[in-house]
Amino acid sequence: MASIVAPAQDSAYQVESLIAQDIDAYLDAHQHKTLLRFITCGSVDDGKSTLIGRLLYDSKMIFEDQLAALEADSKRVGTQGQDIDFALLVDGLAAEREQGITIDVAYRFFGTEKRKFIVADTPGHEQYTRNMVTGASTADLAVILIDARKGVLTQTRRHTYLAHLIGIRHLVLAVNKMDLIDYDQARYDAIVADYATFARSIGIESHTAMPISGFKGDNIASRSEHTPWYDGPTLMEHLETVELDQTADQSRPFRMPVQWVNRPNLDFRGFSGLVSTGTVSVGDPVRVLPSGKISHVGRIVTPGGDLDTAITGQSVTLTLADEIDCSRGDVIAAADNPPQAADQFETTLVWMAEDAMVPGRSYWLKLAIQTVSATVQAPKYQVNVNTMEQLAAKTLELNGIGVATLATDRPIVFEPYAQNRALGGYILIDKITNATVAAGMLHFALRRAQNVHWQATDIGRAHHAALKNQRPATLWLTGLSGAGKSTIANLVEKKLARMNRHTFLLDGDNVRHGLNKDLGFTEADRIENIRRVGEVARLMTDAGLIVITAFISPFRAEREIVRAMMAPGEFVEVHIDTPLADAEARDVKGLYAKARAGELKNFTGIDSPYEPPLDPEIRIDTTVTTAEQAADAIVARLIP
Ligand code: ADX
Repeated sequence: MASIVAPAQDSAYQVESLIAQDIDAYLDAHQHKTLLRFITCGSVDDGKSTLIGRLLYDSKMIFEDQLAALEADSKRVGTQGQDIDFALLVDGLAAEREQGITIDVAYRFFGTEKRKFIVADTPGHEQYTRNMVTGASTADLAVILIDARKGVLTQTRRHTYLAHLIGIRHLVLAVNKMDLIDYDQARYDAIVADYATFARSIGIESHTAMPISGFKGDNIASRSEHTPWYDGPTLMEHLETVELDQTADQSRPFRMPVQWVNRPNLDFRGFSGLVSTGTVSVGDPVRVLPSGKISHVGRIVTPGGDLDTAITGQSVTLTLADEIDCSRGDVIAAADNPPQAADQFETTLVWMAEDAMVPGRSYWLKLAIQTVSATVQAPKYQVNVNTMEQLAAKTLELNGIGVATLATDRPIVFEPYAQNRALGGYILIDKITNATVAAGMLHFALRRAQNVHWQATDIGRAHHAALKNQRPATLWLTGLSGAGKSTIANLVEKKLARMNRHTFLLDGDNVRHGLNKDLGFTEADRIENIRRVGEVARLMTDAGLIVITAFISPFRAEREIVRAMMAPGEFVEVHIDTPLADAEARDVKGLYAKARAGELKNFTGIDSPYEPPLDPEIRIDTTVTTAEQAADAIVARLIP
């Protein structure tokens, strides 16, 4: 099961390990017991660390020396009676013990005769929502811990909502500290009923409740004599027998994202990847997406020899009967039941970065092995994770969760997250800082994506350009307000006109009187301003024109988007580089004075940033170049 937070198959390391897998490792993986991944949700006060420590202890995964140290530690901290404080075992970090909170996701391994387990110990506080989402993204099961003395709390609801959101199929309500309420059945029943009402209200179909004491060991590994009225499984029994996602995924249609095209020589071409759902056998008809081409499986190659059938979770190399195009990021799927490809979606996002989401900005989107550019619109609503209320929102801040429309620059192969985590879960990455800024889940493709097609016209861009006897281009002037962009752009256009070139000048102040008069100067509005101007410039180059633009266009990311819209080589970025002090001293429109006086907000260079181009095609240093000279240099670059 791929993780939505770190698409698991997508690293050089894993490609390497796929190659390096030897027979032993392969046999090993198959003789072994099944693996259950689960998370525990709750705060230190709910006894989370104690419960995990108890599970480790009861499964005999603690070594003698650790146990001795633990007993000594417990005495030092002064735990009551003879009981060992299991929390000391897992709350290993001194800082954590001092602060009383778990700050990161810690993974722990243990095993019983029946199964292996990985437990992600995720922090419970609201400001750690993103950590919880990280820990939960690969889990089969979540243990929601409740302190029996306190009952269902706000955080119980939050944890349950997040676990459900992230697609965890099995929820366990562990009513802990039963020893402290004298194993009172009535109180237990009341808590369980309370929880069930809430769970149903957010669409959870089933969950398992159990009365436990992590501290005393009741109903953990063995049935408690204190709860004769409880006839359900112990926690360990439940963990050992609950259906794994992988088992459930097995019965779904076959999908394998292609991680790597394996072509060691001309005689062999294989497609390597991890079977994310279903099974595939030699001879099965398959479809490669997004192209939709059909073929049959020729061989299923593994380092341990060929297989007749590969199942969910196996890494294999498939060969196809026909020479069809298939590259990294494509998805090989059951021919008669393929996933869709689309470029517009409704999605839920969990924002994970300190900087808020910028609607309209282009981020990298990684889904399975696919990486594309994507933009998210302002959220339709944000969810209050404590009350489940839907609130109006313009953006998402750190730990914010919302529903929004997302568009990718080309179709991606996907499935709704509720059906397939591997093909429905994605992350967003900031293009400049490379940091992961969000995790998201695709719900469905918007129908408009399928119904709007590019209309092919007979007179194409080459024809337009040929008629005008010129090579189209976009001269993109960027720089501070008052740098001289408009003046220089105007001179450039006059010079080109004299050379019989067909041009058009798009100027910030002018465009803002018409096409973009609905836009102001917030970050989001500036991004939309530049997006529209980019689209217009793009259409004009299609018409064969030389476009000159004069916009502050303060953000690198958006200038790069416009560059990517244009045909290769047609975008010429020109930085009109003026020191802020010079622009401010000139202050032709008196706007700097207003901005300094606080009468004008979001003014570039004052209280809104300008990100200079790192590697522009042309840089004009206005401290040593006149407007005339600048225009000559730009024209010379365009028409040598
Ligand atoms: S951009 O940032 O979105 O690219 P654009 O070039 O269209 O800006 O518009 C900049 C012009 O709008 C400036 O030259 C100035 O005359 C005017 N303006 C009004 N308010 C602002 C502001 N807050 N910041 C920058 N320019 C502003």
